[in-house]
Amino acid sequence: MESTTNRNSNARPNFGLRSKVALAGCILAVVVVVLGAFTRLVDAGLGCPDWPGCYGHLTWPDEAHEIQSANKAFPDAPVDGSKTWPEMVHRYFAGILLLVVATLTYLSWRSPNKRTLKQTNLLMALIVLQAIFGMWTVTLKLWPQVVTAHLLGGMATLSMLWLLIERMRKTPIYIPVDKYRALQRLRPLAFLAVLVIVLQIALGGWTSSNYAALACPDFPTCHGEWWPQADFQEGFNITQQIGPNYLGGALESDARTAIHLSHRIGALLVTLVVFTLAILNWRVGLHRWALILSGLLLFQLGLGIANVIMFLPLPIAVAHNAGAALLLLVTLTFYYRIQIVQPSGIEDSEAQTNLVLPRSALTGEL
Ligand code: HEM
Repeated sequence: MESTTNRNSNARPNFGLRSKVALAGCILAVVVVVLGAFTRLVDAGLGCPDWPGCYGHLTWPDEAHEIQSANKAFPDAPVDGSKTWPEMVHRYFAGILLLVVATLTYLSWRSPNKRTLKQTNLLMALIVLQAIFGMWTVTLKLWPQVVTAHLLGGMATLSMLWLLIERMRKTPIYIPVDKYRALQRLRPLAFLAVLVIVLQIALGGWTSSNYAALACPDFPTCHGEWWPQADFQEGFNITQQIGPNYLGGALESDARTAIHLSHRIGALLVTLVVFTLAILNWRVGLHRWALILSGLLLFQLGLGIANVIMFLPLPIAVAHNAGAALLLLVTLTFYYRIQIVQPSGIEDSEAQTNLVLPRSALTGEL
């Protein structure tokens, strides 16, 4: 009896500490993504013209004599006290996140269980790349290509940390065979939903980094027209030169209109796909998932529209970014869980009806 227990406990991967570190990383990643949006929205991306310090300081210059010598050292970028701190707070939180991911990678290397080693290695590579993109954001003076890639990298880091937690808790979810078959048919649509949300986030980042948020000041029309004059070629010319400074945007009005319109068209596509997924979820009996998906979608659409008609209030613009992250995470979780469901096995009635992880998985016991 004892040897059976030992064999079982040896067979069980112990993810306790790693799960906790991954969860801490995930929460921190949400904070970093939201702080990144805040920094971008208060136009503080160039609040510190150097990297990794701020005017050569570990924090930021705030004493009169520090500001004076900083202004002397950077005559083209005088200190603006309202923009130095958001940039540095964002950098410090990102730095802590890097340390957390490094700890996670170290723990995965040391652990005899290598199931999540590949993911943590990839995550480590991604976070280092993010640090480089963060540096380029400053040194290339908010070049929209880099700003958008940095936003996508932040969303990817958050998603990978979240999926890592899901994977560490991996326990099959048993559902009746007929429901299993119905869910397998939903796989391509769930994948498409993740894809269009990622594309829409990229378009959102492009809208924000090219300062096209108010290129269409009305809704649902744009300058009172359904199809206004727009220059798509210039709006999506991703080979544009690296200019001197992109703060405030460098594109003509028609190009910005094209970017803004594309983000609206993207929203229509996301609505079509995610709503269809929600309806089909309802039809196979996954009512909770149907409500969460459609509720989040409506909330995100509402925030986007409020951004336009209320002329981009800061809290709503930041919430629109967080809403995008949440919609992505929830859709990814759904996609992941329909990959790990198993037919039959009548073990956890809540798991069967709601496609949630069995209780044993949620307590960290595999
Ligand atoms: C599900 C659909 C949507 C998703 C996933 C989404 C996502 C995003 C993201 C990630 C950003 C970048 C935010 C940032 O830089 O911090 C953004 C920006 C923006 N979105 Fe959306 N969006 C959606 C729908 C809409 C809709 C329907 C509208 C309005 C008609 C809208 C209006 C805007 C505007 C004006 C910005 C620029 C804000 C800024 O300058 O920071 N969005 N969106």
